[in-house]
Amino acid sequence: MHPSDLHPETLAIISGRPPREDGAAVNVPISYSSTFVSAGPTGQGDNRVYGRFSNSTWEALEATIGALEHPASLGEDALVFGSGMAAVAAALNLVKQGGLVLMPDSAYNGSLALAQEMADAGRIRLQTLQPAELTPAALARTLANLPATPQTNPQASPPTNPHALLWLEIPSNPLLRVPDARALIKAARDAGALTVVDSTIATPLAARPLEWGADLALHSATKYLSGHSDVILGALTPATAQLRGRLHQHRTLAGSIPSPMDAWLVLRGIRTLAVRLGAQSRTAQFLAERLAAHAAVSNVSYPGLADHPDAKTIASLGLPGGAMLAAQIGRGAEDADRFIAALRLWVPATSLGGVESSIERRRRHSSEPGTVADNLTRLSVGLEHPEDLWRDLEAALAQIDPVSLES
Ligand SMILES: Cc1ncc(COP(=O)(O)O)c(C=O)c1O
Repeated sequence: MHPSDLHPETLAIISGRPPREDGAAVNVPISYSSTFVSAGPTGQGDNRVYGRFSNSTWEALEATIGALEHPASLGEDALVFGSGMAAVAAALNLVKQGGLVLMPDSAYNGSLALAQEMADAGRIRLQTLQPAELTPAALARTLANLPATPQTNPQASPPTNPHALLWLEIPSNPLLRVPDARALIKAARDAGALTVVDSTIATPLAARPLEWGADLALHSATKYLSGHSDVILGALTPATAQLRGRLHQHRTLAGSIPSPMDAWLVLRGIRTLAVRLGAQSRTAQFLAERLAAHAAVSNVSYPGLADHPDAKTIASLGLPGGAMLAAQIGRGAEDADRFIAALRLWVPATSLGGVESSIERRRRHSSEPGTVADNLTRLSVGLEHPEDLWRDLEAALAQIDPVSLES
């Protein structure tokens, strides 16, 4: 059976294993060595020289994430980084000096803050896009006057030093909006811009941006890929070998590498991704419907609800509902904080994608943009029994005055 005939659920289990030989370990070993036996001159691409250049445990994980990102075409392996943010930094660094980065104003606040820091230092120009500007026509207008990107290799596609980069998130964090990624990627490509899609929340089981034409798919593997809230790690899967080469060089020079142990833990997490995400998503759908009908909840954003503002796009991209939802509680921050404090099962914590259900009022972070409502809570649904999770939410909501009886 050829791997390209297999489902992602199967690839998540079989990829990144040692060769099937008598006596071989079933799992890749954790390779702890900072250097390798190597004599004589070394050149570019001689990876087994030093532990910052390559590591066999990373490579098993990189092959597995790569297989999940483009199962049909068997494209490039991913590159793993010391954190999701290190992957974000590597991707942003691809833009030419003074190039334009277009990022939704609803992007993950760390990505926005890093892009802003680079803009403040004069490294890039940053333009944040409101939802109305995230249409192919508006994007084409914004990119219309992009200077041509001079290439050392004029045939290179995508551009290796682009003058512009479009950043997308599927779905956005924490509002769970879903832009029409396929159409936006095409508009950006037509204008010569590089496209990066952060699909941390969707996971490669739900969204494969490279199949939509994106140049890079990004993950904070800290979340669903590892799945147990015990690792910080990032990954980038490039569409071409050329981009992979540039990113590998950046990772080596910036030293933004993960530990072999963490890479191994993420690989172990990926083995159960499909069953975890399936169960978590079913519970999220159940809870989203219950929350949406509750009098103390003013708004629920969940991609699996029929009244989601991006329902048409969600259907056209074939996105499932997923395991995250956002709910506005009561009338303001105070109500939302009181609600969270009354919960007994849900863990009040930042981050997402673990087996334990967690909840957070996002505006408690001073860096969270004002586009996020003060009383918005982000829920990451775990693997507890759905009824137990609902009973906990319902008991805490009983302390909040109804909002839907008035106005
Ligand atoms: C969508 C998204 N992208 C990137 C990151 C950054 O990842 P990390 O925390 O692994 O550096 C996060 C972290 O919360 C995130 O939610």
